[in-house]
This record gives sequence, C-alpha cells and structure tokens, in this order.
Amino acid sequence: MERTNWTEIEFILQGLSEYPRAEKFLFVMCLVIYLVILLGNSTLIILILLDSRLHIPMYFFLGNLSFLDICYTSASLPAMLIHFLSKKKTISFTRCVVQMSVTYTMGSTECVLLAVMAYDRYGAICNPLRYPIIMSKVLCIHMVVLSWGLGFLISLAQTLLAIRLPFCGKNVFNHFVCEILAFVKLACADISLNEITLMLDNVIFLFSPLLLICISYIFILSTVLRINSVEGRKKAFSTCSAHVTVVIMFYGTILFMYMKPKSKASAVDKLIALFYGAVIPMLNPIIYSLRNTEVHGAMRKLITRHRFWKKR
Ligand SMILES: *[C@@H]1O[C@H](CO)[C@@H](O)[C@H](O)[C@H]1NC(C)=O
Repeated sequence: MERTNWTEIEFILQGLSEYPRAEKFLFVMCLVIYLVILLGNSTLIILILLDSRLHIPMYFFLGNLSFLDICYTSASLPAMLIHFLSKKKTISFTRCVVQMSVTYTMGSTECVLLAVMAYDRYGAICNPLRYPIIMSKVLCIHMVVLSWGLGFLISLAQTLLAIRLPFCGKNVFNHFVCEILAFVKLACADISLNEITLMLDNVIFLFSPLLLICISYIFILSTVLRINSVEGRKKAFSTCSAHVTVVIMFYGTILFMYMKPKSKASAVDKLIALFYGAVIPMLNPIIYSLRNTEVHGAMRKLITRHRFWKKR
C-alpha cells in the first residue's frame, strides 16, 4: 500500500457554503454561543474550585464536564468560525486529524462521565448513609481518570487506524468539522476494519453508559417513590433533575442522528450536528446552575467577596 504524504493533503470543509447568507448568520450565532460556552463553563469551574461547599463528588464531576465541554468546543468551533467567513474552507491533514481525535476523545469521555455522574446520584439517593464512605475522594479520582483514560485510548486507537489509510481522491467533507467516520470514508482503500471498530466503539461507548444510566435511574426512581413525604421526594429528585436533563439532551440528539435513515447529509442534518456540538456544551452549565441554590450561594459569595475587596 502506498504511503500518503500527509503534508500534501488538504481537506475542504464544505459546511453550508451553498447558503452564503446563512453562513453569516451562523457565524454570529456560533460566536455568541462559543463566548457563552467559555464564560459559563469557566465560571462554573472557578466556583467549584473556590467554594468549599461545592467540594463534593457531584461538583467535581460537573467541573470535569465543564472542562471537557471547553476542550470539545475549542477543538472545532474557532476553525469553524473562520470558515464561515472565508471563501477558502480548507484545513490541513494534521489539523483535521487533531480536530477529529480531540472531538472523539471528548465525546467518548463525556459518555463515560455521564454514567459516572449517574452512579454518583444513585449512591447519594439510594445509599445516603454509606454514600460518604463509598464515594471517597480516591474513588472519585479513579473514576474521573478512568473516564479520561478510556476516552483518550479509544480515540488514539481510532486515529491510528484512520491515518494509515491512503487518500487520493477529492477530499471534501460535507460537514462543518472533521469527523472520523466522514474522514475514513474519504480514503481510497478498504475501510471495513475502520467501520466495524467504529461501530463497536459506538456500541460500547454510547450504549453501555446509557444502560448504566438507565439502571441507576430505575433504582433512584424506586427509592424516590418509596419516600412518603412530598417534600422529601421533591428534594431527592431536584438533585437529579439537572443530570437527567443533560443526559436526555445529549443522548436524545445522538439517538436522533442515528435513527434517521442515512442518506446524503442534508442541511438539517448538519444543523443538528451543530446543535449537538455547540448548543449542548453551552446549555450544560446553565442547566446545572438554574434553580441550584448551592451554585447561586457560591456565586453570591464570590461576588460579595470581590466587592468587599474592591472597597478596601
Ligand atoms: C475533576 O475531578 C477530579 C477528581 O474528582 C477533581 O480533583 C478535579 O478538581 C476536577 N476538575 C475540575 C476542573 O473540576
């Protein structure tokens, strides 16, 4: 097999170039979204690191999720913003590979982390007395390292499998970003190994966390329903509602993309992919801080402390 000379290859990210006016609008929208992602997620991380009342497993995981969202969007959104404005929508081979491997790492890690967060809620609600012992600092760190490690390894393996392919034809992505399956499909060689392993990864990284999440919530629901007081039920469920919302949005979009019959990627498909890649990371911190008295308290404390410091 002939070895591809990587420096010579460029890919074209077509995006929505057939609708130039939509691109201007998307540029403004995505710029605003990206700024909100950076602001919202970094604020949440700072609050979690600074406020000792938020030094509990749930918020450590949430901090990691926010960090993940920042990495995930920073891998592709800035390049996408530039492409929205320029006529030349090319990306070098190396940058395309970096983009797709970072995206893949973060996507897989997010799936595992969401399952870890569900397990954390399960412990807190179904086993409240033993929860502080079960969810020790060490276990939290292990689970976070496991999430990142698995995401990183699986992405490394897929990237190595993908870049050994030869590229020779026209290298046009019908997408906004470099995505691994689309990348593999551009190769002029047999890609069945890549397709099979990608499908296996999807089953492992999408469906087994989803299964764990569902099992956790079945237990949580049955515990919550056994609580007699309405007040107690509300309180127990309010600590899960943010996580449930994030999971439904995250998996809802993925499953929707999968269930649709795969024809040529239409404009709507591309916009859904954009929603998935940009809007969800923006909503995560908002969902978690909305109606969350602990986060509000930490925010208030940070602001008053800052004011006090200024007055002096
Ligand atoms: C991620 O999780 C680890 C382990 O629980 C924690 O020590 C760390 O502070 C978290 N990172 C952020 C940014 O919250």
